[in-house]
Order: sequence, then C-alpha cells, then structure tokens
Amino acid sequence: MGLFTKTPKTRPVPTHIAIIMDGNGRWAKKRALPRTAGHIAGAKTFKEIAKYCNKIGLKYLTVYAFSTENWKRPKDEVEGIMNLLRDYLKDTENFKEDNIRLKFIGNLEPLADDIKELIKHNEETSADATGLQVQIAINYGGRDEITNAVKKIVASGVSPDEITEDLISQNLYTCDIPDPDFIIRPSGEYRLSNYLIWQSAYAEYWFSDVLWPDFKPKHLELAIDEFHHRNRRFGGV
Ligand code: FPP
Repeated sequence: MGLFTKTPKTRPVPTHIAIIMDGNGRWAKKRALPRTAGHIAGAKTFKEIAKYCNKIGLKYLTVYAFSTENWKRPKDEVEGIMNLLRDYLKDTENFKEDNIRLKFIGNLEPLADDIKELIKHNEETSADATGLQVQIAINYGGRDEITNAVKKIVASGVSPDEITEDLISQNLYTCDIPDPDFIIRPSGEYRLSNYLIWQSAYAEYWFSDVLWPDFKPKHLELAIDEFHHRNRRFGGV
C-alpha cells in the first residue's frame, strides 16, 4: 500500500506492468519435485501478485502463462499448465470480490473447447470490474501476434500509405490496452522471449534472480521503487 500515494507527482508511476513468470521449473528441481509442482507454486504467486497490484492501484497487469513455443514441452507439463488454467478459471470468486477484470491475449483457437468457454465466461462476467485489469497471455507469441496483425491489415485491403504504427497497434491482441511501461523478469534470465515485442519498445525493464514461485510483493515494491527513479525520455532529451 502507499507506494503510489507516497510517490511525488514528478516521479514516473507504472500504469501497465508485464511479467514473465519464469523459474518455476528450477524452483521445482531445487526441491526434487516435478516441474508441474513449480507451475502450481507459480500460479499461487500470480494470484498473490495480482491481488497486490490491485491493492496498490495499478491499472494493468499482463502475465506470460504459456507461449507459442511452450507446446514443445513434455506432454504432461503442457497438460499440467492447462489444468492449472482450468482450475483457475473455474475458481474466480476471489477475483470477483476484488473487482479485478480478467482478459486473455494470444491465439486462443488451438486451446481445448472447455478452456475457451471458461475464458469467454470469465471475460464476460468480469467486464464491468473497475479495479486492476489482468491480461493472461496464453499461446501467445509476439511475432505470431504481429504476423496475424499484418494478415488482418492486408485482408482489409488498405493501401501501403495507409499503414501506420497506430494501425498495427490496433490489430494486436492488446489493441485496447496501453503499452506496458514496465517489464519484469525474475529467475536471472535477461531476455524478452517473444513477449510483447511490439508493445515494449519504450518499456523499462527490471530483472531479478528470484525464481517466480518465490517472488513476493516486497520484490514488486523494490521494482516499482526503482521505476520511480528511471528517467524516461522516449527518444527525447
Ligand atoms: C516459465 O517457467 C513458466 C511457464 C512456461 C508457465 C507459467 C505458468 C504459470 C505460472 C501458471 C499459470 C497459471 C495461471 C492461473 C495464470 P519455466 O518452466 O520455464 O521455468 P524454468 O526456466 O526454471 O524451467
């Protein structure tokens, strides 16, 4: 609490935080547990961090839950992550009472029919929530998203000189969400992994060695505190 209220107006405050929830596998390995146990712990962390973001008045949070490349993982791990999503989508009561709006980004088409139904239901029932808006990225890939946007634009028949950055942004999954201004990646990796590659052109980045299941609100506080001190120039001086 208070991180936003204590901040002098001149300091930047993030509007949209995007998190790469990385390190679940290593967290499980350290404990000699199956990788899926790491994802279970990671899903718990996600819930805690989302609630915390809502409490401090953040407007948008986007988390990377499953990438277009993650299908390459062992079948039981993919099923484990899908089952976690299923469980989470069936149990939305906790989010409802927090006034959190839930949305999904990514190519949802290849997902199981029941998951697609649950997603639709959750998006519809939380549409009027006025607190934090959470995007969960599933079967999401930045290049895939841009490729699809190009396909849609070409199919609409616009001429080359009508193609603008705005038009491309409007054809992304995130068309109605401001670009993330802060990207957080725990677990000691320093890459974007195809996450929001168009949208994060001017984002600030924060990395940490903490594995995602161990990531606590105090780590987010540290990150946000550092964001307050970043000098954002957007290409200007
Ligand atoms: C990356 O860690 C994590 C994933 C590919 C899956 C993230 C999914 C969740 C946290 C659960 C999602 C559920 C909900 C309800 C949002 P990794 O497995 O690549 O970790 P490693 O690099 O240590 O192996």
